[in-house]
Amino acid sequence: MRVQAPVLTCLLGATLVAGLFIRRPARGSDVLYSVPLIDGHNDLPYNLRSLVKNQLANFNFSANLSDDPYWGNVASSFTDLPRLRAGRVGAQFWVAYVGCSSQFKDAVEQTLEQVDVIKRLINAYPDDLQLATSANDIWKAFNSGKIASLIAVEGGHSLDNRLAILRLMHELGVRYVTLTHSCNTPWGDSSPADDINSGVPAEHNGLTDYGKVVVKEMNRLGIMVDLSHVAYKVMVDAINVSVAPVIFSHSSAYAVCSHHRNVRDDVLRMVRDNGGIVMVNFYSGFINCTNAADATLDDVVDHINHIRVVAGVDHVGIGSDYDGVDRVPTGLEDVSKYPDLFDRLANSRPWEPEWSTEDLEKLAGLNLIRVLEEVEKVRDELAAQALKPYEEHLAKADLGDNTRCITDNFSFS
Ligand SMILES: *[C@@H]1O[C@H](CO)[C@@H](O)[C@H](O)[C@H]1NC(C)=O
Ligand SMILES: *[C@@H]1O[C@H](CO)[C@@H](O)[C@H](O)[C@H]1NC(C)=O
Ligand SMILES: *[C@@H]1O[C@H](CO)[C@@H](O)[C@H](O)[C@H]1NC(C)=O
Ligand SMILES: *[C@@H]1O[C@H](CO)[C@@H](O)[C@H](O)[C@H]1NC(C)=O
Ligand SMILES: *[C@@H]1O[C@H](CO)[C@@H](O)[C@H](O)[C@H]1NC(C)=O
Repeated sequence: MRVQAPVLTCLLGATLVAGLFIRRPARGSDVLYSVPLIDGHNDLPYNLRSLVKNQLANFNFSANLSDDPYWGNVASSFTDLPRLRAGRVGAQFWVAYVGCSSQFKDAVEQTLEQVDVIKRLINAYPDDLQLATSANDIWKAFNSGKIASLIAVEGGHSLDNRLAILRLMHELGVRYVTLTHSCNTPWGDSSPADDINSGVPAEHNGLTDYGKVVVKEMNRLGIMVDLSHVAYKVMVDAINVSVAPVIFSHSSAYAVCSHHRNVRDDVLRMVRDNGGIVMVNFYSGFINCTNAADATLDDVVDHINHIRVVAGVDHVGIGSDYDGVDRVPTGLEDVSKYPDLFDRLANSRPWEPEWSTEDLEKLAGLNLIRVLEEVEKVRDELAAQALKPYEEHLAKADLGDNTRCITDNFSFS
């Protein structure tokens, strides 16, 4: 249709008038009262493992630990209930992560211990934490004043190359699995493979056929596919094969800081087209490549704005990585500081995108909730098509020499 000049003038006029009425909060952080702030990645469970052997009797989550003689001196400790409350956190993905050295050994057992400690932590603080395994659960917890607590598994090595483990992780409440951590699995490369200096070789040129089945089984189960930590080609392959939106639970913008853990612009556009989300990581080393020691909240704003400009405001979120890192930007010293980030975004500089109330609500939590709802919808649609559980086994040859812990051949084809 040809647009007539007067129509065009009217449209322009309407847009300008609408511009005057964009809803803006008095303070950016006010949105956190109406929408849950959802953080995609917190590694407190790993600190509990490495520092108190998962013994919660030796850990007081109700105390402001920044003053604690022990935790106050732990470089990677940024999290406790008083500061989560001050930070108005509405929902947190708590991460069951175990190191890559457990791959082919006891990764599954250790990961189960981490899922267990997350559940015990939630149960130990019922006034503040509430288990959530669905988008609706996030709202229910938020509306009753609790921090919705979701469980994530970080690293495909935690599955030990068995779809059965993936299915049981879902039964335990796990709602995203990061396809790799910093090691390749037998079915997918990890991001260091993209860096010639890392010493980690690319082994698979992305996802193998078995890796693609892992993604499809996650779609069938309703587990979000997390692409933080994976190699570039795995990002591309996973987005191509996934019939549900994907997430980056804790990654920032490669164009702003060219680290292999960050997301390149072409992938940001693929995430836009896939309906997914990139949740920005606060780690100083991923935020300011020229001078990590001086990283600031403004640098994080640059990453958020870049992802917004390239992928769109519907595809950006927050995934701090608190407690998984030892260095965070000035202005975002711990989990109490999120409101300052929202205040700063609302107070944009002339060259930055302007953040309306709706935009800030999307960043805070509505985008992740939309993604999770979409993942749940895909799960239901696949169930309606009577899609059966995948029964593929990893080829034994793909394990190479890593067979010493295997006593039967049934699990591998
Ligand atoms: C935990 O910390 C809170 C807040 O400081 C305090 O009231 C409580 O007594 C502590 N609990 C234990 C078991 O030390
Ligand atoms: C936690 O303790 C630190 C150090 O005393 C203090 O600066 C901060 O305001 C406290 N935070 C909360 C939420 O109580
Ligand atoms: C996506 O998958 C299809 C079918 O397997 C393939 O033909 C296509 O090349 C893939 N696209 C990308 C970008 O990898
Ligand atoms: C990093 O810090 C330097 C100052 O040390 C600053 O000039 C620069 O803009 C910051 N941001 C990035 C992304 O490098
Ligand atoms: C596993 O397969 C190898 C050959 O690949 C065979 O030698 C071995 O006996 C099998 N073990 C079991 C428990 O079936």
